[in-house]
Amino acid sequence: MKTCVAALAVCLRLMHPGHGMNAAQSLGSPMDADAEPVTFNRHVAPILFNHCAECHRPGEVAPFSLLTYAEVKKRAKSIQEVVSEHLMPPWKSVAGQGSFVGERRLTESQISTITCWVAQGMVEGRAEDLPTGPTFVEGWTLGQPDIVLTMPEPYLLPSEGGDIFRNFVFDLHIPKGKYIKAAEFRPSNRRVVHHVQLCVDTTGRARKSDEADPAPGFSGSGKPPGQLFPGSLATWTPGRNPMQLPDGLSMPWPDGADFVVQLHLSPSGKPEIEQSSIGFYLTDEPPVRSMADLLLIDMKIDVPPGERSYRTWAKLILPIDVELVGLFPHMHRIGKEFKIIAHPLHGEPIPLLWIRDWDFNWQFYYQFTNPIKLEAGTRVVMEAVHDNSAENVRNPNHPPKRVKWGEETTDEMSVAFLQVMPVREADFSRIDMERHGFQLGIIRASGKKPSVP
Ligand code: HEC
Repeated sequence: MKTCVAALAVCLRLMHPGHGMNAAQSLGSPMDADAEPVTFNRHVAPILFNHCAECHRPGEVAPFSLLTYAEVKKRAKSIQEVVSEHLMPPWKSVAGQGSFVGERRLTESQISTITCWVAQGMVEGRAEDLPTGPTFVEGWTLGQPDIVLTMPEPYLLPSEGGDIFRNFVFDLHIPKGKYIKAAEFRPSNRRVVHHVQLCVDTTGRARKSDEADPAPGFSGSGKPPGQLFPGSLATWTPGRNPMQLPDGLSMPWPDGADFVVQLHLSPSGKPEIEQSSIGFYLTDEPPVRSMADLLLIDMKIDVPPGERSYRTWAKLILPIDVELVGLFPHMHRIGKEFKIIAHPLHGEPIPLLWIRDWDFNWQFYYQFTNPIKLEAGTRVVMEAVHDNSAENVRNPNHPPKRVKWGEETTDEMSVAFLQVMPVREADFSRIDMERHGFQLGIIRASGKKPSVP
């Protein structure tokens, strides 16, 4: 009842902007006859078309469509709940902690509009108010790729059993003078593909393993089967939009290297097949900036069953002035909270990322809209919390079990990858990759002059 009164107060404010103070008083009286109620066609549909339809339409990641009045009305109550609790659209970083490419959020006023529509009985409204439905590029989000690789044969998944890590090896020929700017992974069967890693193998090892295994691909462990692609290109997770490397960066392709993709697959209860495609987007521009992957990692994880707030942390001190391109935080099932904060030598701490309600199923790469400048000497700190209690609804173990560090989804991790560009290219060699770096995903600027001083 309380939420209903609150919702009606919101409705009245929406209908009488500027008369917010009177809203509560007016609650007892019937609503003005001339006031237009919040309608699906006029108010709600535009919000859902812009913020939900990319996933809630046939063939996409969400389990049902939200394109028509009938589809939305049927689930109105649950829609109102998930938007009010900020569960949908899925976006895990808390507002106000920096701005990221592809950030998904509803404003408070959009949430009120939906709440209000439900409280008023889900009026459809006039047909002429309905905007034309959203249009989407069929297939590739970033448009037609320059190169498309598709698994030559489908991989057959058994109906039962644990998670499968399967590596597939491809020839990839990037023409001379071209560089990779973006890559887009497309599963053929979203029910079974959980995560994907994109790698380069210059050793020929992956190809040998593939040849030794008669089925398509060869089995893996969760470890990347080569050098990971840089930044946002390294991994794919459901619901994550592909993005380009930022200005000044592109990925040179080593001569004769193999492209290896690792699929993390989960059986669905019936036999399934998967035949993925990967699209590559090329540019003529060689990298004029370098980028390194710095690592914040705490491997001393040993979470007793029932422990509600198990803390891990790591820090590093930046040896040079950098621009922070993006962040990739990673934990598994019982991860709860994740924070990365920069502490400059002088001045206030800079909150970089805060995930208050970690969800293994929504792991995003956080690429800053504008890279964040951090000075040499800045201490970057990661703090993570794991919740191994029975009250954690995401705990896969009933009753909870002791969980330690490891690669499998049933183990735990506490790690963040930070992609940094040196402010001055000459400083790049002063990043001690042995100590702080993840020896993967490095881009080295070509001899050209950096575009940014
Ligand atoms: C990035 C893709 C994506 C976007 C954008 C998205 N959803 Fe979802 N939604 C999903 C997926 C996947 C599920 C099912 C799994 C889950 O609940 O996490 C889901 C589930 C739901 C559910 C069911 C929740 C439940 O507990 O049963 C509702 C309701 C919903 N979404 C509403 C919305 C609304 C409203 C929007 C826009 C404001 C939206 N979603 C935007 C992917 C998305």
